[in-house]
Amino acid sequence: MSCLIEIDNLFFHYPDGHQALRDVSLHVSHGDRVGLVGPNGAGKTTLFLVLSGVINQFGGYVSVAGCDLRTSGGRKAVHQKLGIVFQNSDDQLFNASVLEDVAFGPLNLGLEENEIRRRVDDALASAGLGDEFKNRLPFHLSGGEKRRVAIAGVLAMQPQVLLLDEPSSDLDPRGRRELIGILDSLPITRVISSHDLDFVLQTCQRVVVFDEGRIVADGAAREILSDREIMLEHGLDVPLSLQIRKGGSY
Ligand SMILES: Nc1ncnc2c1ncn2[C@@H]1O[C@H](COP(=O)(O)OP(=O)(O)O)[C@@H](O)[C@H]1O
Ligand SMILES: [Mg+2]
Repeated sequence: MSCLIEIDNLFFHYPDGHQALRDVSLHVSHGDRVGLVGPNGAGKTTLFLVLSGVINQFGGYVSVAGCDLRTSGGRKAVHQKLGIVFQNSDDQLFNASVLEDVAFGPLNLGLEENEIRRRVDDALASAGLGDEFKNRLPFHLSGGEKRRVAIAGVLAMQPQVLLLDEPSSDLDPRGRRELIGILDSLPITRVISSHDLDFVLQTCQRVVVFDEGRIVADGAAREILSDREIMLEHGLDVPLSLQIRKGGSY
């Protein structure tokens, strides 16, 4: 099967004993666009840290694009298969120019100069950033522009799957709209964690609801997000656009 992410019976607790993931099983296929929703503290970011190979002491089975994350070799190899865009772009951008930030990953792979240039140009174009951004200081960009530079940096590694942690938080309406357009045009498999349920509705076909470290619902985005009972029980609410369409049920 074309399963890109395979998680079976995943358990994880932090060193202080806090159980953050409880018996999580989730399969993501090539081309899936999955929204991961749930209240604060549900375990969304922790799950991303497991998938990106940062967390190593977990129970259960996790593999990403053929990398078995129970092994240190798998956790190392996953860096070239999976890209993560952090919630706070300032954690991800640390070079003196956009060009250097986007070229950083390919440079570390030891690729040829021409290949690096090609990857950087493709990645910038995919993230909707014209040539004029190359010499800008990332620190001086708007929130939306920073998020797009972070996405370009990850795309330059040519991953098979993209994780975005709360990508629309702290963006203004224009930045948010531009991000939706960019994600729409990217063919890559992705998992997006978000509290912004309208954003999830516009960018994902499938939704997984997380609460207290467990998956409590998994299915078609529109169906799950319009289920008021599920949403309210797990600290969420039906997205505004679905409430209005239902003819004033709110
Ligand atoms: N480093 C840590 N040590 C102990 N507990 C943590 C740590 N990081 C997160 N947690 C706890 O794990 C749970 C899940 O957190 P997190 O994955 O950040 O949730 P979410 O991203 O859904 O808001 C929360 O209860 C949080 O307090
Ligand atoms: Mg989080």
